[in-house]
Amino acid sequence: MTPPGRRTTVVVLVGPTGERPAHLGTVEARAELRYTDAAGLPDALDGADVLFLWDFFSTALRDAWPRAGSLRWVHVAAAGVDTLLFDELVRSDVVVTNARGVFDRPMAEFTLASILAHAKQLHVLRDHQRAAQWRREETTPIAGQAALIVGTGSIGRATAALLRAVGMRVRGAGRTARSDDPDFGDVVASARLAEHVGWADHVVVVAPLTPQTRGLVDASVLGAMKPSAHLVNLARGPIVDTDALLHALRTGGLAGASLDVFDTEPLPADHPLWTTPGVVVSPHLSGDARGWRDELARQFADLAQLWLSGRPLPDPVDKRLGFVPAPEARP
Ligand SMILES: NC(=O)c1ccc[n+]([C@@H]2O[C@H](COP(=O)([O-])OP(=O)(O)OC[C@H]3O[C@@H](n4cnc5c(N)ncnc54)[C@H](OP(=O)(O)O)[C@@H]3O)[C@@H](O)[C@H]2O)c1
Repeated sequence: MTPPGRRTTVVVLVGPTGERPAHLGTVEARAELRYTDAAGLPDALDGADVLFLWDFFSTALRDAWPRAGSLRWVHVAAAGVDTLLFDELVRSDVVVTNARGVFDRPMAEFTLASILAHAKQLHVLRDHQRAAQWRREETTPIAGQAALIVGTGSIGRATAALLRAVGMRVRGAGRTARSDDPDFGDVVASARLAEHVGWADHVVVVAPLTPQTRGLVDASVLGAMKPSAHLVNLARGPIVDTDALLHALRTGGLAGASLDVFDTEPLPADHPLWTTPGVVVSPHLSGDARGWRDELARQFADLAQLWLSGRPLPDPVDKRLGFVPAPEARP
């Protein structure tokens, strides 16, 4: 909360289009709002208490940090905080919150859609249609199939619930192994992923990008998957070793991959992933269900009401870990 007698200043960083978040009327009633683009951020931060990163993948705060001396809270309109965090911010007292929860159900639905499209060969059938070919294919039932969900956060949990609801068998891969998890049942240790992926027909990656998850799905993990298996990566590109993935797909080590995220985004036009058989590319949109921008803005407005009233913000990011730990794992 801002010291008595001083009006709180909230900076809203907008992207190159200049589009502003709706629904900030309740914030504006109680605080000074300053909208800026990245170029104007250093000046806008002078004397500011709060920064709302509406331009959620911006790295502009890092450059403007020397001017952020009065900043006490940063909210980013994204679930992943890997592009936001830098050493000075991590070491500071500035509280960071994220868009926890907004993407849970849309990402779970996108995962189910990817699994069904793979099992029912929808993309293959579209290729046949384009070639005006009346060509029949067999499809695979997903009831009883096994899905290993790598990343036991809120998106992983929503995904587990949805996949169970359609009759799939589900396990999680988290930081620590345990049984009797309410959403996953069994959770295996993601550090030993290669020992566990052979169980799965679908390996779904929804973990935060951290030093522990960077390169987690490497050649040894891909090599241990069933040749009939399907990889879904909706989290961050660098969690999967792309060269190893291409090798596995080209040599029959893996049947397919549904990829929403990439090492370089946009995916370059000449990248082999565009044309490798079995690969389905989507442009980092798996969480973007209609209404998402409104929901992101409302979430910030609600948190701002708490902050302006001096109440604690729920679910802060653990800046050293690089994600929001589950409530039972908090200090
Ligand atoms: N493509 C898109 O459009 C899109 C949209 C939204 C989010 N995302 C990505 O999805 C990620 C997950 O989002 P979320 O909201 O579910 O995050 P979250 O709830 O903040 O994830 C935190 C959880 O991740 C688990 N985790 C941390 N390190 C792990 C590791 N080494 N191995 C396995 N699990 C680990 C932890 O579970 P345990 O405590 O059980 O270990 C922790 O509770 C985001 O970070 C973002 O990168 C992508």
